[in-house]
Amino acid sequence: MRFAAAVALAFVVAVSAAPTRGSAVALQRAQIDAFAPYTHIASAGYCQPARTLAWNCGVHCDATPGFVTTASGGDGLGTPYWLVGYYPPLQSIFISYQGTEMEKIAPIFVDIDFFLDPLNSTYFPSVASSVMTHGGFGDAHERSANDVLAAVKTTLVQYPGAQIVTTGHSLGAAVAQISAVHLRLNLPSGTKIKYIGFSVPRVGNPAWANLVDSLVGDVTHINNKKDFVPTIPPRFAGFAHPSGEIHITANNEWLTCSGMSAL
Ligand SMILES: *[C@@H]1O[C@H](CO)[C@@H](O)[C@H](O)[C@H]1NC(C)=O
Repeated sequence: MRFAAAVALAFVVAVSAAPTRGSAVALQRAQIDAFAPYTHIASAGYCQPARTLAWNCGVHCDATPGFVTTASGGDGLGTPYWLVGYYPPLQSIFISYQGTEMEKIAPIFVDIDFFLDPLNSTYFPSVASSVMTHGGFGDAHERSANDVLAAVKTTLVQYPGAQIVTTGHSLGAAVAQISAVHLRLNLPSGTKIKYIGFSVPRVGNPAWANLVDSLVGDVTHINNKKDFVPTIPPRFAGFAHPSGEIHITANNEWLTCSGMSAL
């Protein structure tokens, strides 16, 4: 029952948001193609740590040859798999997190909770207690936060000046969004940090979305067609997306949507 209600709600939100996309701009083919390595590395996040360590995870590793993994971990249960490594063609240090298939992520929200929790000040010193994320996402991030930060610092020593990219799909994209802020607060201020999430649920409240925009700056979240993950948890429960939405339409056009997401 509640699952059906959530799907219906998502449909209503998607349909009602459509007419407001007046400022959307279509990306060119080359701009779309440039996302390919990010998609592959986000997808590699689903693979077991031993395989991402060896960069031997199948098509997504094969499509990004030369990737050098610094460390990987997670148990795929309470702690999503994660990997940290360097991808030479983009001169970027990637942090990619395991996602959850849509049929698994939906029940998490419908059956459990929409609770918003303040960030843990151990990891997010100086962030106001009014800034909140979904408790499940925050916990999933915390469990690997220290290991990920240590691996990123090690990689930065090897590749000084490299840009940092956090990425993932669905749950992985939510954890990656929190990770982007965590790294911003714990790495030297000159470090460039970029977030690219695919099929991103709403991660936190509007104060969180504002923090992501102001601290990370280079933010992109890509929604595919009528995928409903980006519509949960709902806005009426106090959740919001940051800026940087790209929506892939039914015609496979990629539209950038300026400002905070309507979705
Ligand atoms: C914050 O993180 C620390 C270190 O992992 C942990 O000991 C503490 O219980 C956490 N606090 C909350 C409120 O979850």
